[in-house]
Amino acid sequence: MTQVHDREGWLSVTASTCPASTMQHGAPLRIVLLGAPGVGKGTQADQLSQLSGTCHLSTGDVFRMATLAACDCVSPSIREALAYMQRGELVPDATVIAILRERMQCLRCMGGFILDGFPRTVPQAQSLDKLLQEAGVKLDAVISYDMPIEQIVPRLAGRRTCSTCKAVYHVTANPPPSERQCRCGGELYQREDDRPGAICRRMEQYQESTAPLMAYYSAQGLLVSIMADGSPGDILRRTLSRLSAAIPVGLPVAPND
Ligand code: AP5
Repeated sequence: MTQVHDREGWLSVTASTCPASTMQHGAPLRIVLLGAPGVGKGTQADQLSQLSGTCHLSTGDVFRMATLAACDCVSPSIREALAYMQRGELVPDATVIAILRERMQCLRCMGGFILDGFPRTVPQAQSLDKLLQEAGVKLDAVISYDMPIEQIVPRLAGRRTCSTCKAVYHVTANPPPSERQCRCGGELYQREDDRPGAICRRMEQYQESTAPLMAYYSAQGLLVSIMADGSPGDILRRTLSRLSAAIPVGLPVAPND
């Protein structure tokens, strides 16, 4: 299936409306991706999105887009969020929930969604339950990508992102064509929160605030745990196979590497 809608409404600093949100689809996929910082949620979300046509909605991407927006139209709630993010701290629940509420049309979207980076605390998960109820939709599954933290840190330290097209590379696992340049010609940068001090803080915050979400979603019968070792293609195949067994949505087949 090809991508039938874009993420403009999600990423917009002024929360514009996505023109495709009312298009008819087959059975839409509605999932949440959980896992420690750097485990590979964004990489998997992108691949799942390309295969299924479902939008990849990352709260981290909303904040990063706002840092690049050279205009006064960034909402006060997003402006407040950026300082927390740069220190590697979680943005306060009320701020993130307000940002999600501003983007309710993405939860109602007939194409479904892949939520990456939200929820991150139990109060955020409770708010998501309420927002989904208001939108009249339900989650199909919550995927938890698991891997020991010692193996994850090198993934974060080696990440490079394109300042133009936002492609994500890894210096050894998925190297860019040149050290500083993306294949689109854009300049590569290292995220502020991928520096050693911020990485430690993010891992601590994950253990304190995000790990309890596994019990929350397990109690709802939605949790699907997947080992995140191996290549991105291996993990994608594992994900599709586990999802096909868990939910009735017709899923595409993953390509071979
Ligand atoms: P966010 O952007 O959501 O960051 P994160 O959850 O910390 O996750 P990352 O984007 O760092 O990692 P990832 O798991 O997506 O890994 P990736 O695929 O890139 O949030 C950033 C910040 O925003 C937070 O710290 C917080 O301040 C704030 N925030 C966001 N949402 C919030 C919320 N709901 N509440 C409060 N605050 C919030 O992969 C990492 C690297 O590994 C890449 O280089 C990739 O190429 C490589 N890689 C991926 N898969 C593999 C593989 N299989 N093998 C080898 N390398 C791989």
